[in-house]
Amino acid sequence: MSGAGDSVAATIATLPGDGVGPEVIAAAQAVLEAVASRFGHSLIFREALIGGAAIDATGNPLPNDTLALCREADGVLLGAVGGPRWDSPTAPVRPEQGLLGLRHALGLYANLRPVVPHRSLAGASPFRPEHLTNVDILVVRELTGGIYFGEKRLERDPADGRGGEIATDVCTYTTAEIERIVRVAAELALARRGRLTSVDKANVLETSRLWRRTVTRIIGDEFPDVAVEHMLVDSCAMHLVQRPAELDVLVTENMFGDILTDEAAVLAGSIGLLPSASLGAPAGRGRRSGLYEPIHGSAPTIAGRGIANPIGAILSAALLLRYSLGLEAEARAIERAVRLTVDEGVVTPDVSTDPARAASTGTVTGRVVWHASTTGPGEPAPATASDSAVLGTA
Ligand code: IPM
Ligand code: MG
Repeated sequence: MSGAGDSVAATIATLPGDGVGPEVIAAAQAVLEAVASRFGHSLIFREALIGGAAIDATGNPLPNDTLALCREADGVLLGAVGGPRWDSPTAPVRPEQGLLGLRHALGLYANLRPVVPHRSLAGASPFRPEHLTNVDILVVRELTGGIYFGEKRLERDPADGRGGEIATDVCTYTTAEIERIVRVAAELALARRGRLTSVDKANVLETSRLWRRTVTRIIGDEFPDVAVEHMLVDSCAMHLVQRPAELDVLVTENMFGDILTDEAAVLAGSIGLLPSASLGAPAGRGRRSGLYEPIHGSAPTIAGRGIANPIGAILSAALLLRYSLGLEAEARAIERAVRLTVDEGVVTPDVSTDPARAASTGTVTGRVVWHASTTGPGEPAPATASDSAVLGTA
């Protein structure tokens, strides 16, 4: 979208959603505004409804206006969806349908979830600090296929005289769906340590056997410099906490990626810290549609109390600048501001070792804004420095 130093004008759709979503999106927007003003860009923010908030207002978790805005915008920033209010098992519509529908409608098949524990937050993790040294994992989760999108059925069980039911969720993957996500993961691996771990359950599932064969072929034919290993998902769940520093890029199907990334968040110290980018196919002229959201949920029990960790959302905003707007220096300015803030010990209760002195969402955000407005990006490149170039978005 820009050459270095060019001034950029872009529209960002904000979808705060439910629970702590509005609090963390307000934080991310404040940081984006600060960075835009410092670097001379003009960002226009337009807010829309999604999830439970959209069900309450319109009956639809993904209103047409929201989808139209997201299609037009240069990037979409989303908070979280869901909560006990809309959780009844018999509810006709659910907040999560809004998020899944949006990912599907925008064709966002590649979900990138970087897991890089911060040294000064080691106390928040249940692991010993030395266990976290050199942990830098990028999980690439397939986001628009598999069991979350397969046919769902609930029917009476004719064999059950007590009136029991049969529930079915179908898991499907096509060769083409696997090929495209593996290519994204392999390109990212090449820009990192060149190691790709493909996670499946090929000893049991047909979809996983197709997954494994396809990964082997694509890497063999197209990525001779990537070292690939296959790992069963149960074994990976163990490996992830036992030897996390050995992992580089991990590629996996939708549900396994959902589960493993919540587990990986424990390495970082709190799920509130982790960002994500959901990307579609490149759209030409260096543009790539993208949805950016923290991986945490709506956290209804702490919503409205001003203690939600805004860092996952703020780092997601950095990923938006990197992948959808090609603004690498600006993305790094945010990542640096977050590091400085965390190093000063200005953190929310979920990662504070002394909860009595923990900071509020607003205090953390204010500090990140201050650092993002005043410090320069001249610092060592993070491991993912060239990701935007790799994915053709720079
Ligand atoms: C996530 C969330 C969503 C998912 C839910 C809210 C549908 O858990 O982004 O990880 O399962 O993808
Ligand atoms: Mg999840």
